[in-house]
Amino acid sequence: MNDQAFMLREKMRRHRQLSASRVKTTAICSGKGGVGKSNLSVNLGLEYVQRGERVLIMDLDIGMANVHLLLGAEAKGSIVTMLDQELPIQDVITTHHTGLHFIGGGSALKQLFSLNIEKQNHFHRQLSQLEGMYDRFIFDLGAGLTLESLQFLKAADDVLLVTTPEPTSVTDAYAVLKYISQLKENRPVSLLVNRAAHEREGRRTAESLIQAADKFLAFSVTFTGSIPDDTAVAKAVKAQQPFLLHAPGSKAAKAVKQAAGVLDGGRRKQESSFTERLKRLFIKGDSP
Ligand SMILES: Nc1ncnc2c1ncn2[C@@H]1O[C@H](COP(=O)(O)OP(=O)(O)OP(=O)(O)O)[C@@H](O)[C@H]1O
Ligand SMILES: [Mg+2]
Repeated sequence: MNDQAFMLREKMRRHRQLSASRVKTTAICSGKGGVGKSNLSVNLGLEYVQRGERVLIMDLDIGMANVHLLLGAEAKGSIVTMLDQELPIQDVITTHHTGLHFIGGGSALKQLFSLNIEKQNHFHRQLSQLEGMYDRFIFDLGAGLTLESLQFLKAADDVLLVTTPEPTSVTDAYAVLKYISQLKENRPVSLLVNRAAHEREGRRTAESLIQAADKFLAFSVTFTGSIPDDTAVAKAVKAQQPFLLHAPGSKAAKAVKQAAGVLDGGRRKQESSFTERLKRLFIKGDSP
């Protein structure tokens, strides 16, 4: 009887642990640069905040950190500041007036994967603390895949691949799909077509990529939706505000809201927590 009670308590404890760590994690990436990843990270993030979620965006663009610019806010710090100064991760999280939280990026992120074991442990401990505090992490990755961004991509629940309808962007997106399809830890990928002239163009672009991935890579990709090319986006960028705030009635804002719902619908459950998965990848190194 005692044994049974113990087993039951243990089961409940594990259940509580798992549900506490059920942060949803999405890595937003692209082949070609400048296709709208950061704008989508910020506006999707804001949409989830408006739905009542606690959202943290991590700017993992090593080349050009710009999430803070799109939010018109100064970043308190980055993951690298946290590691260099051994700060608690909360010290480098900036709260935007909308309620969206973010951690700034920076070129020093490159160091992340050449850290000594103590700093790696500090990083993982800090990250795992965050898991219970948020409903969602969004990783804004730079264009293409680097050793650094790849680990986050592999540990995330899913990948949102962004392309525009331009052939150069589509070709680069296919290259990313090819790479992901060959990874041992390949993730479910959904496709978002940004800057589409109209919905039909977005759908056609997605269909051709999805079919190519299916036929030549035997890799299944889902379609999250398309965002129209909309002058409201550039205007909002200049105003340093997310377009969801600056132009809530715009076509782009409506499309982002719709995509946020679709993205959530296709999510699958993970057995381990995000930090556990990331930790395993750090330890193993980057073997496809
Ligand atoms: N739907 C859209 N309609 C019109 N313009 C857009 C749209 N999406 C993005 N843009 C334009 O593209 C620019 C680049 O967007 P963004 O910085 O989000 O791209 P990115 O993929 O994050 O770039 P990088 O690869 O450099 O990180 C924006 O400043 C904006 O002017
Ligand atoms: Mg960007």
